[in-house]
Amino acid sequence: MVTLLENPLRVGLQQDRIPEPQILVIFGASGDLTQRKLIPAIYQMKLERRLPPELTIVGVARRDWSNDYFREQMRIGVEEFGGGLGKQEVWDDFARGLYYFPADMDDPVSYQGLKNFLANLDDTRGTRGNRVFYLAVAPRFFSGAIEQLGAAGMLSDPEKHRLVIEKPFGKDLISAQALNQVVQHVCSENQVYRIDHYLGKETVQNLMVFRFANAIFEPLWNRQYVDHVQITVAERVGLEGRAGYYETAGALRDMVQNHLMQLFCLTAMEPPNSLDADSIRNEKVKVLQATHLAEEIEIGKGAIRGQYSAGWQDGKAIPGYREEEGASPTSTTPTYAAIKLNIDNWRWKGVPFFLRTGKRMPKKVSEIAIQFKEVPYLMFQSASRQANPNVLAMRIQPDEGISLRFEVKTPGTSLRTRSVDMDFRYDTAFGSANTDAYSRLLVDCMLGDQTLFTRGDEVEASWRILTPLLRVWDAPADPDAIPLYEAGTWGPIEAELLLNRDGRRWRRL
Ligand code: BG6
Repeated sequence: MVTLLENPLRVGLQQDRIPEPQILVIFGASGDLTQRKLIPAIYQMKLERRLPPELTIVGVARRDWSNDYFREQMRIGVEEFGGGLGKQEVWDDFARGLYYFPADMDDPVSYQGLKNFLANLDDTRGTRGNRVFYLAVAPRFFSGAIEQLGAAGMLSDPEKHRLVIEKPFGKDLISAQALNQVVQHVCSENQVYRIDHYLGKETVQNLMVFRFANAIFEPLWNRQYVDHVQITVAERVGLEGRAGYYETAGALRDMVQNHLMQLFCLTAMEPPNSLDADSIRNEKVKVLQATHLAEEIEIGKGAIRGQYSAGWQDGKAIPGYREEEGASPTSTTPTYAAIKLNIDNWRWKGVPFFLRTGKRMPKKVSEIAIQFKEVPYLMFQSASRQANPNVLAMRIQPDEGISLRFEVKTPGTSLRTRSVDMDFRYDTAFGSANTDAYSRLLVDCMLGDQTLFTRGDEVEASWRILTPLLRVWDAPADPDAIPLYEAGTWGPIEAELLLNRDGRRWRRL
């Protein structure tokens, strides 16, 4: 038996250590992401005593804010979007480490000024030259900011300087490759933390544990026993005022290329040799390299898009996408995407993976369902008059848990069967599933653990799969040609046909 202590490679996903003293520099500090997500997530870690006392955060943005104003905005963020301040003295201590540096991201002079500002903070706050630069800005600023950070020598130390890049990383294969080149020019891959917040979710991390810490599932996890896999990420929300970004992104770029593809990788990849970041990421890249869209030639058959039209959610009228503020009245941007992926390897050849995501669905639910094959011959009468293959459903959120569906005999004199679920729920087992994803990722980055971040070749491999489809969907189209679905429904009828053609159907969630 190998214990954790005997095997240092296993510490990758452990996290009891406290990061070194350091400065977290957030570009885009006046934006929503900083106030709603990043600062509340970091503060939660402060409350849990997972941060070094010297931790210093420098917000950088164009607006002319003072330190005090920045601190006040962040306090509002923690109160409104986080778990609250807790003890006043904890907040006061945290707020003393918050600074604001107004800067024009296009101006080299700003970066020199920032560099000096950070060096002074090292003296007063004891942060020892350790830096994390977090790009929480619109993607068009990524390349410029990275180049300028490099030119100012702020990414020159591979041990002390880290770079965090928010999604989307590129908008297709070519742009992702170009951005990777910019990154590689100024720093090495082990300094780079590409964020996909799904990897910070507890239930997503559990996918590997579930698969590789249990002996009973892995033997079934292949083409011999699995009929197909369905990965669903359904959202109730609509545009949320993000038309500027979403109009050029759409569901494929916003959700599939990153979040759903990560769920796909963790479900389909081979067991890694160890838990260190590169072993895991190597396996993800390998499975992505073996994956392609089904029916690439006739792309419309293996992929369906849709856009929500006016409808209802909980008795409330919901406007259609084209009526949302900032969206074009003739927009063809998909708010729904369903794709079929095939994997050419020994484990999965012939087992389709269906991925779907949409906004304005009836409910928020994300799950991965492994649909097993039917029994070879059904000798019982089933209550539903059909064979009900076993299903293993891993619920990512909400209602986090795992359930296994199987057939039992219904009580009584006749020999009839019915499906029942054996259910594991995080809330009953542990109280809750949740460390906030951003909290987890930010602390990992401060610790220098890249396991839950996406590597450059991994992002490119994912774009490679989807770029042929993007080319088709990006081409100018007649707005009437985009399948619509009413807000509050499960997507366009065409998506049903994607599965029905093979004699399968989407799970009712
Ligand atoms: C973001 C997308 O990455 O993920 C949003 O840009 C989406 O459009 C969000 O709503 C969903 O995240 P979660 O954690 O709520 O499932």
